[in-house]
Amino acid sequence: MRILGIETSCDETAAAVVENGCVVRSNVIASSRERFADKGGVIPEEAARRQVECIMPVIEEALSVAGYTPSDINAIAVTKGPGLLGSLLVGTTSARVCSQLWGKPIIGVHHTLGHLSSIWLEAETDQPRFPALALTASGGHTELWLRLSHTRGTLLGRTRDDAAGEAFDKGAMLLGLSYPGGPSIAKAGETGDASAFTFPLPLKDDPSLDFSFSGLKTALRYILRDEPEASNRLNDVAASYERSLCAHLIDRVERAMAKHPEIVEVHLAGGVSANKTLRTMLQSRLPQGVQLRCPFKTAYCTDNAAMIAAAGYFLLQETPAITTMSFDAEASLSLEAAMTME
Ligand code: KG4
Ligand code: ZN
Repeated sequence: MRILGIETSCDETAAAVVENGCVVRSNVIASSRERFADKGGVIPEEAARRQVECIMPVIEEALSVAGYTPSDINAIAVTKGPGLLGSLLVGTTSARVCSQLWGKPIIGVHHTLGHLSSIWLEAETDQPRFPALALTASGGHTELWLRLSHTRGTLLGRTRDDAAGEAFDKGAMLLGLSYPGGPSIAKAGETGDASAFTFPLPLKDDPSLDFSFSGLKTALRYILRDEPEASNRLNDVAASYERSLCAHLIDRVERAMAKHPEIVEVHLAGGVSANKTLRTMLQSRLPQGVQLRCPFKTAYCTDNAAMIAAAGYFLLQETPAITTMSFDAEASLSLEAAMTME
C-alpha cells in the first residue's frame, strides 16, 4: 500500500511517499523557515504564498524520488488541521485536485496523529507496540496520550497555556537567539551549566497530567532582568531553562507511568522530540523493560509529510470507511474526538 502524504500546516511545503506505514520511499520538504529566523515566528500570509509556488513541484519531486508515477499510488493523505488556515488550504486543495485527476481516494489526517505515527517510520523490522504512552510536543501542541491502537486512545493531559516548543521559541526571543528556539537554545546550552540558575517545577502539586509552560517563561524573564550576572552567562541561562522545560515534560510522563502500569513503551514525538537533553533525561527515568521510542531521524520529529502518509495508512487499516468521509481544512481541530472512533 503506497500512500502519498502532503503536509502544509505551518511554514513548510512537504510531500512524501510511504509504503505500508513505515517504508519511506521519499520525503521532500521546502521550508521558508529561514525567512522567519529573525522575526521570532512565522508570518502566515508569506508562508502561504510560498506554499502555493512550491506545492506541485514538491509533490512531483516526492513521486520522482520514490520512482513512481501517480498510477502507482493507492491513496493520498493530507493534513486537514490544525494549523494556519491559508497554509492548510494549499495542501488540501492540491490533494483534492490530484485525487480527482488521478482517481485516487483521499484521507484527511489530523496533524498530531501524524506526529504520533512518526514513530513507525523506518521501524519495519522492529514495530512499536501498544499500549503506549505518547508524549507529543511541538510549537502548536503538547499532549500526553495513552494509545491502545492507532485510532483508539485517551488524552491524559495537555498544556493549559503555551506549547513546549512555543516555550523554547519565546525563551529564545528573550535570550536574543534565533527562531526556531529549540535548536538555538539547545546549541547555546551545550556549553552551559544547567544547574547555574534555578527554575520552578510547574504544576508540582497538581494531580492532573496537564502541562503549563508560561510560568517558566516568566521565570526566565525575571532571571534575565533581576540577576546581575545572567547577561554574561547566557549559555548557563539557556542550559538551565532547557533543563527546566525537559524536567516538566518528564515529571508528567513519570506520573502517567505510575498511573498506568500496563504501558509497555513510551513514544516521544513532535519537534521538541529532537531535543537530545530531553531524550537522555527521559531514557534515564524510565523503569526497566519500558522501551523509549523517538522518531528515527530529526527530519521525522519536525513537520514532514512522511508522518502524514504513515497516519493515513493506519487510518485506512483501522477505519476503511475513512476515504468516504468528507473533511475541511480547519485551523483548530481536536484529535480527541477522532481518536475514540472505531
Ligand atoms: O512539529 P514542529 O516542526 O511544528 C509544529 O507542529 O509546531 O515543531 C516545531 C517546534 C518549534 O517550536 C521548535 O522550537 C521545536 O519544535 N524544536 C525543538 C528542537 N527542534 C525543534 N525544541 C527543542 N529542541 C530541539 N532540538
Ligand atoms: Zn507539527
